[in-house]
Amino acid sequence: ADGDPASPHAANYDESEANGHMDTLPDVLTFADGSRVTSAEGWWQRRRPEIADIFETEIYGRVTGELPDIEWRVTETRSESIGDVDTLTQTVAGSMKNPLPPGTEVNIELTLSRPATATGDVPVVLELGFDAAFLARLRERFTEEQLAAFRGDGPPWNEQVLARGWAAASLVATSIQADNGAGLYEGVIGIGTGGGSRTPGDWGALRAWAWGVSRVLDYLENAEGFNATRVAVEGHSRYGKAMLVAMAFEPRLAAAFISSSGEAGAKLWRRHYGEQVGNIAGSGEYHWMAGNFLKYAGPLGVDDLPIDQHMLIALCAPRPVFISSGTGGDQWTDPKGMFLAAAHASPVYELLGARGLGTMDYPAVGVGLLDGDLAWRQHEMGHTPAPNWPYFLDFIDRYFSKDTTA
Ligand code: GCU
Repeated sequence: ADGDPASPHAANYDESEANGHMDTLPDVLTFADGSRVTSAEGWWQRRRPEIADIFETEIYGRVTGELPDIEWRVTETRSESIGDVDTLTQTVAGSMKNPLPPGTEVNIELTLSRPATATGDVPVVLELGFDAAFLARLRERFTEEQLAAFRGDGPPWNEQVLARGWAAASLVATSIQADNGAGLYEGVIGIGTGGGSRTPGDWGALRAWAWGVSRVLDYLENAEGFNATRVAVEGHSRYGKAMLVAMAFEPRLAAAFISSSGEAGAKLWRRHYGEQVGNIAGSGEYHWMAGNFLKYAGPLGVDDLPIDQHMLIALCAPRPVFISSGTGGDQWTDPKGMFLAAAHASPVYELLGARGLGTMDYPAVGVGLLDGDLAWRQHEMGHTPAPNWPYFLDFIDRYFSKDTTA
């Protein structure tokens, strides 16, 4: 599908043609042998592992090879004001002993900001973000006005997080794994393969970025002042996809804000709307995936996928997940396809005693479904998480403000 509407293979944005493949949508609560999952035990013991195995084998790949430990070092500590909050900010570097040639070192870049007056271990909101070079390119490409529109009217997300007394953390995704195919021979994936080619079931960049999030969690478990049992993650667009993978595969993560993740994220592959399998598998995005995935853009097709993305959301259950999208230019992410995926994941939340979306009816823009453990809201702006940050923080406040020390 081409984002250009004048193209002969323009992406479909006609809702009446969007559900062409939905009749082959696999049921999340039916075992591979065709019988029904009827108990939480059946989910945890059998169905969940079945689904996780397919995502690893066919879609995102498996963490491969012997990976050296990460050595974490605080390289800078500074006092600063972020918004109205006096903050202590640490720059943290995670380096790995790298058997590959010099110049390919992996140095994970993490920034941790904590309210200076906070006592005890505070919850953490962790954003998977872009590197300095990418942000510089954005500044070249867009005017200040356009960038301001992307940021929205409210204060930046980290100010909002710190104002609640929590810590705000940023992790640079490309410091773990480059965002291009050539980079597969380096980064953590390259270390895992010894600098060689991947086999078809090995991990792609999305799984690698998600792996990096787990390593940050290891760090937080040992660092002082952070509550590693209350870490919420957020990612937007490609990093929204990565954070959904992280939440699905890392049970220690407490909550997630999955913003405009679209294809390979929270959107159903079987929806014929916006971005399609071939865009991910057959373009400059293939390195996000396992090699095994590429066959679904030919010789196999979308109906041959043994899973769909509602099952990835289901792997997060019963933990709180907020799925978000925008309007306008965000049609490429197929907002309704993401809503439907959350709706089809809801029976797993309910089986586990939590609350799903509670409806199959697509709500209007701006109407949030925010009362359950799985939440949905589409905002008025385009491809940005900005307007949904306050809603997400209210959503996790229900969990994070509970005192568990009593
Ligand atoms: C492209 C890609 C999307 C991705 C987005 C981004 O639009 O097709 O899948 O989410 O880039 O990450 O910015």
